[in-house]
Amino acid sequence: MIYFDNSATTEIDESVLDSYLHVSRKHYGNPSSLHAFGEETANLLKQSRKQIASLLQVDEEEIFFTSGGTEGDNWAIKGTAIEKDTFGKHIISTTIEHPAVTKSLEQLEMTGWEVTYLSVDEDGQISLDDLKKAIRKDTVLVSIMAVNNEMGSLQPLDEIGDLLKAYPSIHFHVDAVQAIGKIDLSLAESRIDIAVFSGHKFHAPKGTGFIYLKKGRQLAPLMSGGGQESGKRSGTENVPGIVAMAKALRLLLEESTDKQAVVRSLKDELTSYLSGFNKVTVFTPAASAPHILCFGVRAIRGEIIVHALEKKGIIVSTTSACSSKRKTKASTVMDMGYSKNEAESAVRISLSHVNTLEEVHQFKAAFDDIYNQLKEIE
Ligand SMILES: Cc1ncc(COP(=O)(O)O)c(C=O)c1O
Repeated sequence: MIYFDNSATTEIDESVLDSYLHVSRKHYGNPSSLHAFGEETANLLKQSRKQIASLLQVDEEEIFFTSGGTEGDNWAIKGTAIEKDTFGKHIISTTIEHPAVTKSLEQLEMTGWEVTYLSVDEDGQISLDDLKKAIRKDTVLVSIMAVNNEMGSLQPLDEIGDLLKAYPSIHFHVDAVQAIGKIDLSLAESRIDIAVFSGHKFHAPKGTGFIYLKKGRQLAPLMSGGGQESGKRSGTENVPGIVAMAKALRLLLEESTDKQAVVRSLKDELTSYLSGFNKVTVFTPAASAPHILCFGVRAIRGEIIVHALEKKGIIVSTTSACSSKRKTKASTVMDMGYSKNEAESAVRISLSHVNTLEEVHQFKAAFDDIYNQLKEIE
């Protein structure tokens, strides 16, 4: 099998799985327990937090473990809303966020919050001018993703951060789930207050994740209970998952510039190959993350291509995994100005550094066949 659906989830790294199993078997004490056995686990938790903080060049106290990207986005948005509702009830976001963001915002809208959704241009980017105009006295949160999961398009995070420096009380939340290891994120120097990460997108186990919360920023907890994670996220910690995630992050960020270059070269190869077909439209803009490539074959629904490739042992997806089983529009494609028909043709290839040029060649051979068959049916 050739796996080109790494933005949906990744294969767990073998050595990461070994760590997960080792901690599960040998260190199952509760880190909150008083006995030495629990303390051993607490130490593993501490070391993992330290390692993640040092890899991201932030402080340990700025890392809080979660169950993944969905929890992180919910927490960033609803936690800010609870924290700041006496100051204002207005949020700014974009039309192309992941459902973990949009559904959280919709829930707040049902309880009296107002949300301004910024649209994107043909490169999938918001306009700084629009953002500036949308800011109001009662704006408490700006929530903008780093890398779009359907298209790979990028947002101008540094420029947004510069603009928000004039509004220090506004929380700046960035969904960085598709960005880690793919683009450079310098959290400490940035204006970003909350960044959200998900382990299973970078070869760690599912059900793992963390948020970065800038020191001094307040975020109300959504999980109340025993007071774990400095009282901010209660619940017995998934220590095997956390240890494994810290290792996966270390592996991901080792020689990450080289890995990004490899992934970029595979994507460039695929882009120039697909651009050679007169019925193929490459939707992903040139300025995009190295691993995501969204394209469509004119008048052919995306799922036809997905299933045809699957028959040849190649796994890709329509748009995001969350929406691909529901018959929703490929929203980002339409938001970038393409038609509904074009959006329905969207297919997403998402790569990882574990993919190879040989796999790209096999994809090309398979796609040649499929394209020729489709031509015969016409
Ligand atoms: C941009 C983005 N945000 C959030 C999520 C949700 O992450 P998780 O699957 O860890 O809940 C995803 C998952 O696809 C994503 O791509």
